[in-house]
Amino acid sequence: MNHATDSAVVNYEVRDNIAIISLNSPPVNGLGLPLRQGIQQYFYAASEDPTVKAIVIASSGKLFCGGADITEFSGKLANATPALPALLRELEESQKPIIATINGMALGGGLELALACDYRIALFSAKMGLPEVNLGILPGAGGTQRLPRLAGVETATQMIVSGAPVDANTALASGFIDCIHDESSSFLDAAISYARELLASNAPVKSCAELSVDTSSLPEHFFTDFRQSIARRTRGFYAPEQCIQCIEGACKLPLDKGLALETQLFSKCMTSPQARAQQHLFFAERAATKIPGVSSKTLPRTISSVAIIGAGTMGGGIAMNFANVGIPVILLELKQDALERGLNTIRTNYDISVKRNKITQPQLEQRMALIQGTLTYNSLAGCDLVIEAVFENMDIKKQVFAQLDAVCKPGAILASNTSTLDVNEIAASTSRPQDVIGLHFFSPANVMRLLEIVRGDKTADDVIISTIKMAQRIRKVPVVSGVGWGFIGNRILEPYGREAARLMLEGASPAQIDRVLYDFGLAMGLPSMIDLAGIDVGYLTRQADRDMFYGRDPAYAAICDKLYTLERYGQKTGRGFYIYEGRDKQEDPEIMPLANEIAQEHNIEVREISDKEILERTIYMLINEGAKVLEEGIAYRSSDIDTIYCNGYGFPGHVGGPMHYADEIGLEHVVNTLKQYQETLGDYGKEWFSPAPLLERLVAEGKSFKSLSTAS
Ligand code: 3HC
Ligand code: NAI
Repeated sequence: MNHATDSAVVNYEVRDNIAIISLNSPPVNGLGLPLRQGIQQYFYAASEDPTVKAIVIASSGKLFCGGADITEFSGKLANATPALPALLRELEESQKPIIATINGMALGGGLELALACDYRIALFSAKMGLPEVNLGILPGAGGTQRLPRLAGVETATQMIVSGAPVDANTALASGFIDCIHDESSSFLDAAISYARELLASNAPVKSCAELSVDTSSLPEHFFTDFRQSIARRTRGFYAPEQCIQCIEGACKLPLDKGLALETQLFSKCMTSPQARAQQHLFFAERAATKIPGVSSKTLPRTISSVAIIGAGTMGGGIAMNFANVGIPVILLELKQDALERGLNTIRTNYDISVKRNKITQPQLEQRMALIQGTLTYNSLAGCDLVIEAVFENMDIKKQVFAQLDAVCKPGAILASNTSTLDVNEIAASTSRPQDVIGLHFFSPANVMRLLEIVRGDKTADDVIISTIKMAQRIRKVPVVSGVGWGFIGNRILEPYGREAARLMLEGASPAQIDRVLYDFGLAMGLPSMIDLAGIDVGYLTRQADRDMFYGRDPAYAAICDKLYTLERYGQKTGRGFYIYEGRDKQEDPEIMPLANEIAQEHNIEVREISDKEILERTIYMLINEGAKVLEEGIAYRSSDIDTIYCNGYGFPGHVGGPMHYADEIGLEHVVNTLKQYQETLGDYGKEWFSPAPLLERLVAEGKSFKSLSTAS
């Protein structure tokens, strides 16, 4: 009996006495209302059919199930009958055994669906996890209650609070799946055989309601210690604590009461601004891969070998990304000693990973073997992608690209990791500008998730698509930017940094500015960030374009320039805005007197600065410049700016990025506040605090940044 066509979201068939309910809702079998209704309908059919003795829940796609349909969260559908928690309770109380057949990813509600079944068989390659915490919520369909019962408190807490999936072997060892099958082509047959074995052995139906959480071997103070261990990583996030409270509840409460607690805390999370922010980022990351004017059907070029030019800070880190996923890399340097230094640094970084148990020694050797050093350009002739990471100097870059143009095969993608230079100019220095693109990695390049892809005027569509796919392969978050000073990220950073420097002249200390921004949720405040990036780096950038900065304001970043002349470049020289000893820093008593001196020279009034003013003048500058970047078409959507800031600049994910934050607090409020500073800060205010025309227009039309993307 086969009850559904391929276009149905659920397929149903009965093979002998086994009913098979197959989820068939691409791309991820999201448990939206139609899928929930389909599951329920066929569950009832199987329950009522006297010939059916067991039920298999499987998937017709590559994934088992990606969880609740996140697009339903902003409306009423998520709670429409059957709601997921209630449906899963029904399955759990089934009179006939249900076997979840986990052929691929089972995430969130998808894993919760499997946990509500009686037995679980997984394909060896399947991954299972409860990533809800990354969406600002908690597993709300029984995950916080069933997983601790089946896998134990420690595994469950780790999985639920980190959101990270585990593989099938780990799941089996933890006890929340029952067996693993090794071959994908015969997986469904294996699941059916497994169901028959269960029937033959009179295996009982199971319900988590009959299980309590085993806390007998739980270390004393487990939850207190766990909270401490995640405090830094989860600072400012609301959902992790709610997850822990649910698991604590599971340890004490019967299933129905635990589920009620879960529902209560789930809805508290779901209605929080953080959930909106984190869900915004989920969709933002995916939207960023869709490029206006470029068909998603464009075929990517093959990238199976990569070359990096320059084995310095960036080149070495970039090379590691490729070796980490098994792609061979050729690393080119000018001189043997520089090459050896670069390769040694890579090995040292991998050594640290081995010491931290992140990789094994054989993995280290495998990865090092994938990175070959060279001093000659001819070795790059066969590479599919070349990434240049030499000194930030246009003439040197042009020389490098001329050599690449001469030796690289036709169709090779030629990329520059420049952080400021004009990608069009670099492209024009070759005979193949269509193959040239900017790939702006962030430091440390082997760690930071963001990759800003800079689309030159002539960059070919398939080069853009290829680099987006390549970024995903090396586990980066790609965002495409147009060509323009500082692209998206650094362009917006500039006025934000300018305000920090100016606020010091007006009387705010580095520590006060850092505290305000850190408390807002940023990984670090501006003075600390400038110290880390290097005061010399910013200085040299300003000198390269003096008019753009000092032409508008003779006191522009004057405190930074002063520190530069004192050779206080930040952490690298042990002194910048702070005094450093190793990683420890302390306030420097000389900074404020220096700032006061400069303020006097430039007739800047020194006064007490409130925390509110610091926050507004820095964060609203990000927003204002973001609006300009958007209007100029350098960024395609406001959510791209959010993705960049949350993945490359330490902006708190629970705030959702500067542009989402602006939408949340209201664009009118942002404009009014900018105008207020425009008036109260004298000539300085008039110079820098004009609201961006796009902001004013959106306010006049009663619109948000988000409305710009949803309209297109
Ligand atoms: N709901 C709605 N849409 C989803 C979705 C979901 N759970 N998961 C993915 N999608 C959409 C994506 O937005 C994307 O749409 P697009 O093509 O229009 O951009 C499409 O499906 C494909 O997604 P990916 O590009 O991410 O595909 P991948 O193959 O790279 O990854 C995945 C698949 C690993 C499942 C990844 O999509 C993912 O991590 N999804 C989210 C998983 C998750 O967080 N689940 C928990 C949901 S909340 C929940 O279950 C609550 C419950 O406890 C009550
Ligand atoms: P670096 O000074 O650490 O390394 C540059 C390396 O390139 C040196 O090892 C040098 O020997 C080599 N090199 C110079 N000319 C060469 C040539 N003609 N052929 C081969 N090798 C050559 O510099 P870093 O910091 O790695 O920067 C490299 C590029 O990355 C620059 O364009 C920079 O703007 C960009 N960038 C730097 C970031 C950072 O935080 N350091 C962040 C993002 C981008």
